[in-house]
Amino acid sequence: MKEKFYIFLGPPGAGKGTQAKYLADKFNFHQISTGDILRYNVDQGTELGKIAHSYISEGKLVPDDIILDLVKDYLGRFRGQVNGFIFDGFPRTIDQAEGLNEILQENQNKIDKVIYFNVDEQTIIARNINRRVCPKCKKVYNLLVKPPEHDLLCDICQVELVQREDDKPDVISDRLNVYKAKTEPLIDFYKQTDKFVEINGQLSVEQVAIHLEKEINGI
Ligand code: AP5
Repeated sequence: MKEKFYIFLGPPGAGKGTQAKYLADKFNFHQISTGDILRYNVDQGTELGKIAHSYISEGKLVPDDIILDLVKDYLGRFRGQVNGFIFDGFPRTIDQAEGLNEILQENQNKIDKVIYFNVDEQTIIARNINRRVCPKCKKVYNLLVKPPEHDLLCDICQVELVQREDDKPDVISDRLNVYKAKTEPLIDFYKQTDKFVEINGQLSVEQVAIHLEKEINGI
């Protein structure tokens, strides 16, 4: 079976990662979250992590060539093992989108759908501010809609949850500005293709998942 390739596009905190994890499990896809990969490298103190940290902590984008090399590497590692890939938070610039097209064409692959999560700014800010993460297993919570069962402890690890350093209010506004300047133009870029699909990201996690499953099943 030919592998499928999906892009999840949308502002910071739109719910891309939440849905990508769920759908990757359900459909045996591999989620390529450039944000998660970069944070892993920051935690491990790798050379990439040291470079990435200076950008992430200020809400700036990591340079395109670094990101494209990283994605190419991950695609190579998982090709042939899964039914498809979800690019979560990638591409984020027109140059990354063009680079991705080239990478896929090298293997006679192409994007199947670009799914844009439309969420208003007020909701975005609330979701980011209230996001908490388990530092051990990386499970994502939300103090408003998906709080942990006890205090601020991870339901699985019983470790105290933390706030991502780029979820502090001043960095969130920088990330939003970068999104508008660099990533929002991708909406028009992909609208010119027949792959673009917009979903209402304001809905509940469960409702968004239903819409996405329909898109993946081609209903
Ligand atoms: P990255 O980690 O990709 O951040 P992002 O795109 O800003 O996305 P988020 O992880 O913030 O949000 P999300 O949409 O996944 O939402 P989530 O599901 O967690 O990137 C971080 C940084 O790394 C960047 O700033 C940059 O520096 C660097 N970077 C990464 N990729 C790069 C690239 N390609 N190029 C250059 N630099 C790059 O949900 C958010 C919260 O809302 C959670 O608490 C969740 O529980 C809750 N929630 C989710 N869905 C719903 C819902 N439907 N209703 C209510 N609450 C919900």
